[in-house]
Amino acid sequence: MHIEIKNLSKIYPNGFAAIRGINLEIGNGMFGLLGPNGAGKSSLMRILVTLQKATEGSVHIDGLEINANRDKIRPWIGYLPQDFTFFNKLKTWEFLDYSATLSSLDIKRKDRLKKVDQLLEQVGLLDVRERLANKLSGGMKRRLGIAQALIGNPRLLVIDEPTTGLDPEERIRFRNILSDLSQQDITIILSTHIVGDISSTCHHMAMLHQGEVAYNGAPEGMIAEVKDYVWQVTIDDNEFTTLKNRYPVVSTIPIAGHWETQLIAMEKPHPDAINIAPHLEHAYVFFMENKLGISLV
Ligand SMILES: Nc1ncnc2c1ncn2[C@@H]1O[C@H](COP(=O)(O)OP(=O)(O)OP(=O)(O)O)[C@@H](O)[C@H]1O
Ligand SMILES: [Mg+2]
Repeated sequence: MHIEIKNLSKIYPNGFAAIRGINLEIGNGMFGLLGPNGAGKSSLMRILVTLQKATEGSVHIDGLEINANRDKIRPWIGYLPQDFTFFNKLKTWEFLDYSATLSSLDIKRKDRLKKVDQLLEQVGLLDVRERLANKLSGGMKRRLGIAQALIGNPRLLVIDEPTTGLDPEERIRFRNILSDLSQQDITIILSTHIVGDISSTCHHMAMLHQGEVAYNGAPEGMIAEVKDYVWQVTIDDNEFTTLKNRYPVVSTIPIAGHWETQLIAMEKPHPDAINIAPHLEHAYVFFMENKLGISLV
């Protein structure tokens, strides 16, 4: 699949420009859309899945303009909205069966039920298939949401902040489901403000900020830009207070009454500081602070 987003803008009726002149190309595999609250991730995704129209610009999927070809394109798409909720009084399997009917999956009832159980198995919910969907835990609901998005055998899966609010175990489980999926012939667009979701799953990414693309490419490319500016130093309370008022701190670990601190600085921040290998979290903070001028200090 090839998605081409050209000069895309979305101005809401109140005049607010949530997306401004976005250009992106997205191919097979997992594509991560990283950005803080309000960056425009959900606005962009709703346009991609044809739930709302852009004010300007175009999106083509495999050469087809999406609005002119809605009927053709919609069956290709599975979508998990950010604010996904369930109907009352449906058991977990019933909800999925209902979703199958909605997605006009044109198969016999027996095969449909088989497909429902196969998907429940895939997302680890077969054991709770009889439980009411709205009584599932937050993580389980999100996994049912993925199953719902997959029921029509989509070629494009669009998932909006699927890991927000999940505990670490559920988050890892979710990432594993996604990386299993990405082995298949499917394009997955994942939005998140959690850097770890991207670094553990995506080979391609874009960072959005105030409706614009601040970075587009491989995560390694973004990491390379911060290469010389990540420092680690172990310091006491006083020194820590001084440093954190001066530089953005990415992480701290308390060690024997001291703080092992990782921070971003253009110059050596402390005589004992050493350069360390950066990862995406460092790059994200560097971009926010140094490229976009958002003060995190
Ligand atoms: N229907 C709307 N009318 C007016 N403004 C809107 C509308 N929907 C979104 N916005 C605004 O557009 C901006 C981008 O919103 P959007 O939901 O796309 O961001 P996001 O990156 O998904 O944020 P979050 O991480 O909080 O989900 C925000 O400032 C939001 O308040
Ligand atoms: Mg959103």
